[in-house]
Amino acid sequence: MSQPHTSKNHSLSRISDYPIDPVFLKRWSPLSFSSEKITEDTLYSLLEAARWTPSAYNSQPWRFVYAMRDTALWPEFIELLVEGNRSWAKQAAAIIFIISKTTLTSPISGIEQDAPSHSFDAGAAWMAMALQATQMGLATRPMTGVYFDKAREILKVPESYHIDAAIAVGHPNTTIPLEESHSRRMKFSNMRRSIHEISGEGYFKF
Ligand SMILES: Cc1cc2nc3c(=O)[nH]c(=O)nc-3n(C[C@H](O)[C@H](O)[C@H](O)COP(=O)(O)O)c2cc1C
Repeated sequence: MSQPHTSKNHSLSRISDYPIDPVFLKRWSPLSFSSEKITEDTLYSLLEAARWTPSAYNSQPWRFVYAMRDTALWPEFIELLVEGNRSWAKQAAAIIFIISKTTLTSPISGIEQDAPSHSFDAGAAWMAMALQATQMGLATRPMTGVYFDKAREILKVPESYHIDAAIAVGHPNTTIPLEESHSRRMKFSNMRRSIHEISGEGYFKF
């Protein structure tokens, strides 16, 4: 039986063990988006937040390619997602691919060198985008359930760039009940390991 599942009760069921800013608990990744569109300016606010992310040598390795729903590009973007993601992501207002440059120009030597933190930086950029979306009443859901080879070909991504993830963006759907399997996944998403399972003073002991 489908259970009603709202963003309200979803975020309210997240409780931190130590005090943090509420935005960290309010951010969540819905599996259902409303049909409401977003404007390109709204999308640019999310990308603007991402733009201010710190990165190694301030190299800013992230690049974003996007499609808005109900445009000619949309079906092409949806085809790049695995089937399990297509079913819900097709309702999103936009899909953004985060792509990062795998090399950077050393500010010291001027030589092009490997950028070991390109994905770390791109991940931080997603989080900035996700928190900005939360503040604007929107939500994002990142996906690595992507046909990466196909995405490289269709999006014309050069070899020197890495496709990190696709991000669905939109207004979370807080009215339609989720199907059972999605409802279970949402409940699991509210769980986190304890601080002591993931951190400790001194040597690595996990
Ligand atoms: C790198 C990454 C890849 C993910 N890939 C998928 C995906 O392909 N499909 C999906 O439904 N969710 C995907 N997720 C969403 C996670 O399942 C979700 O973020 C996690 O359960 C925690 O939930 P929350 O974002 O609501 O806190 C991904 C999340 C991240 C960070």
